Amino acid sequence: MYKTHNCGELRATHTDLKVTLAGWVHRRRDHGGVIFLDLRDRYGIIQVTVNPNASKETLEHVANVRMEWVLQVSGTVHKRPAGMENPKMATGEIEIIAESVEVLNSAKTLPFMVSGENDLPDENTRLKYRYLDLRRERMTRNLVLRHKVVKFMRDFLDKQGFIEIETPILFKATPEGARDYLVPSRLYPGQFYALPQSPQQLKQLLMVAGMDRYFQIARCFRDEDLRGDRQPEFTQLDLEMSFVQRDDVLALVEQLYTELIPTVTPHKKLLSSPWPRLSYRESVERFGTDKPDMRFGMELIDVSTIFAKSEFKVFQSALETGGMVKCIVAPGCAEYSRKEVDALTESAKTFGAKGLATLAVTGEGLKGTAAKFIKPEESEAVKSITGAKEGDLILFAADQRAVVNKVLGGLRLILRDKLNLANPNVMAFAWVVDFPMFEFNEGENRWDALHHPFTAPTGDLDGDPGQLRSRAYDLVMDGTELGGGSIRINTPEVQLKMLEILGMDLDAAQESFGFLLDALKYGAPPLGGIAFGLDRVVALMAGTDSIRDVIAFPKTASGADPMSGAPSPVGQRQLRELGLRLG
Ligand code: AMO
Ligand code: AMP
Repeated sequence: MYKTHNCGELRATHTDLKVTLAGWVHRRRDHGGVIFLDLRDRYGIIQVTVNPNASKETLEHVANVRMEWVLQVSGTVHKRPAGMENPKMATGEIEIIAESVEVLNSAKTLPFMVSGENDLPDENTRLKYRYLDLRRERMTRNLVLRHKVVKFMRDFLDKQGFIEIETPILFKATPEGARDYLVPSRLYPGQFYALPQSPQQLKQLLMVAGMDRYFQIARCFRDEDLRGDRQPEFTQLDLEMSFVQRDDVLALVEQLYTELIPTVTPHKKLLSSPWPRLSYRESVERFGTDKPDMRFGMELIDVSTIFAKSEFKVFQSALETGGMVKCIVAPGCAEYSRKEVDALTESAKTFGAKGLATLAVTGEGLKGTAAKFIKPEESEAVKSITGAKEGDLILFAADQRAVVNKVLGGLRLILRDKLNLANPNVMAFAWVVDFPMFEFNEGENRWDALHHPFTAPTGDLDGDPGQLRSRAYDLVMDGTELGGGSIRINTPEVQLKMLEILGMDLDAAQESFGFLLDALKYGAPPLGGIAFGLDRVVALMAGTDSIRDVIAFPKTASGADPMSGAPSPVGQRQLRELGLRLG
């Protein structure tokens, strides 16, 4: 037996117990003959004390021991002498007085320290030695948290009558809007499998098959531009239900997260319960985005009517060309320097603004770039509608509606971070509903589905596609889109119509989705579902910005794996077998 206990589980109540532990040397300190070794495993860290009167053999073994060597230690649990306790360690009241120490394995000097958060190398090096990076306490904690979240989800859904069903990875293109990863077929030269961007069609087919309630911790593959919250392969909690309306799905999900958060991360608080529901339109108008961070106010306020007769050219020309003027109020920022205002203006420009007009409410009256263009009655009206007080800075955007919302929505988040407006321990869940079914893709001169083409539409199917709404819903939290889903189309006629609006002719539709169209002819129940970015859920619960921190072996931001070297070239023979020639 290698060990009787884990390093992290012993406490003062175990005093005088004889134990055997095994783990890694986290730190080593020599104090005039006494050697302290902090021994670490997944469960925690404990201090092992090797006294000079230990056996000669033990002293010999310990003499060479370095960081991250693997040891087996037998000894007795002792209370630390008064004053020597370490309240920062869970095991800080005790130590193990070693009776024997065996070296199970040695270790080269590590490329970086795993015993702290400081002096970490760049992420590439961390990923190259990911097995060492994961030894760090924070990373271990993240993986344990991820396990707990998944376990909670499985248990919760099981109790609600869901069954977990696996779906294939080697499949056919699924239209979630990204590029596909393709796998060449050896047996069918020149033909390819596509890795699923999500199990969307398959879970719909499981409903046609009568499975009633399905879920899966599903791996999804999307070849798209990567960011902190996007990976080429990621995991969804994917679920689908039969005989449901939208509100049945929303209620189930709301219950899931409302129980999950206090169970797994009790230090996090839900901002509100029940969760607010915003229409897509309301979300964009109030927060400038369809994934609002509702932990703080600073909502976008339409002041177009106040400036209907404005003599400020910038406002005038926006209003005359069918645009609008909106503003946000940055609390306590009236004294911002020229440089700080210029920086905000530059940010506004990256979101598409032509400029940024400001009005500072100060003790000596109004200041800011718009002050001299705005009439007293206009500024009074703005102060009254926004509630801006002395010390506040009002930021105006004047442009077409979409630009104004995007600019102020973007500035709102910049100010959130600059002014620490959002409590990191608050989780503000919200539903966004009533999305448009399609949005027009100017570049390609065609309609795109805002969600995916299997989403049920509402409205006149033969009218203007731009007027159709969808029965889709998104779950957002703290400014991140956590999940999306919808009530689905369950008849072939409506499904074909949607594909037709997307510009697919009958043959193309049959070729891509024939199997689904066929299935819809055999008695598909009313159905709906949703999928969550599991990596994002866990990252937010762990309080980290990057989903890479909660994935054991993620890819870099450029889609590579520095540890294995993937992607990598393959030999001629393999290419030949697959019927491939590189161009
Ligand atoms: P959707 O495409 O909105 O919906 O995906 C659901 C959720 O998955 C997460 N996500 C990602 N996470 C990490 N890296 C990525 N590249 C990535 N892309 C998406 C997001 C997103 O909200 N089949 C539908 C669901 C349904 O209709 O039931 C779907 O996949 O958190
Ligand atoms: P100008 O008259 O162009 O010097 O602009 C006066 C002020 O209005 C400057 O602070 C500009 O940054 C700002 N501004 C210019 N265009 C816009 C716009 N579309 N929306 C809001 N402010 C603007």
